[in-house]
Amino acid sequence: MKKAAIALLFTLTLAFAGCGDKEESTNTTTDQTEQTGTETGDDVQGDLEGEGPLVDGVLNVGTNAEFPPFEFVGDDGEPDGFDMALIKAIGEKLGVDVVVENMEFDSLVASIGSKIDVAIAGMTITDERKNMVDFSDEYYEAVQYVIVPADSEIASAKDLEGKNIGVQLGTTGDFIVEDIKDATAAQYNKAVDAVNDLRNGRVDAVIIDKNPAQVFGEQFKDEVKLYDGESAEFGFEKEYYAIALPKGDEELAKSVNDALAELKADGTFDELVTQYIGN
Ligand code: ARG
Repeated sequence: MKKAAIALLFTLTLAFAGCGDKEESTNTTTDQTEQTGTETGDDVQGDLEGEGPLVDGVLNVGTNAEFPPFEFVGDDGEPDGFDMALIKAIGEKLGVDVVVENMEFDSLVASIGSKIDVAIAGMTITDERKNMVDFSDEYYEAVQYVIVPADSEIASAKDLEGKNIGVQLGTTGDFIVEDIKDATAAQYNKAVDAVNDLRNGRVDAVIIDKNPAQVFGEQFKDEVKLYDGESAEFGFEKEYYAIALPKGDEELAKSVNDALAELKADGTFDELVTQYIGN
């Protein structure tokens, strides 16, 4: 929404509020570190068709808060985690309000430029995604891990052949399963559901990024064990997380990359790593 339109709406709202009752409309300013969207996205602000977040002053950010420690739903029901703290710090540098919308991981890329301006979701840079979006500079190195029941005999990529493997839909773990001979991907919208089905014996293994795997591994440590996918037995490739940006918006890309570089240089980035990821 354009600033003039907001101002007009605000004036009208006050005028009508004045007619009805005595209650003062006071809480109209927004705190950029607190403000987040709802699951349905009803209160997402900003004019996505307009001049863009740098002009509107609102950065609409999509995430999928099912990926601890990068993003998860906090005790207050709002998305929390490393990525959320990082994008809010970037928003502060850019002087824009950050509004977070929690959505399915698989719809993030397609929503950039319409429902959301950018996405931060532990998202790996891939060539397929690069056809649809641009990426910021990378901010974190990752690799897929394999979670199996504690008593499983699976210990190598070969052992995954023909198995039923739980993944989060549309993730790089999902793409890896496509290349495993005779394996079936059991696709979940929430990674935790895949892990629960592993515990229930409905899937033989779960393939998911290292840090969430470690979180789940710790949470269910008596029931599961983890394999580092980078080990010789599995041979998965390193991945790099970046913020997904609208294709061709060089100004936004430069602003985001400059902010990221500043946060790395001034130590904020490392503080957030220590706070949320711990290694
Ligand atoms: N790194 C993987 C990918 O890009 C998984 C990311 C999942 N993130 C999430 N917030 N659920 O495909």
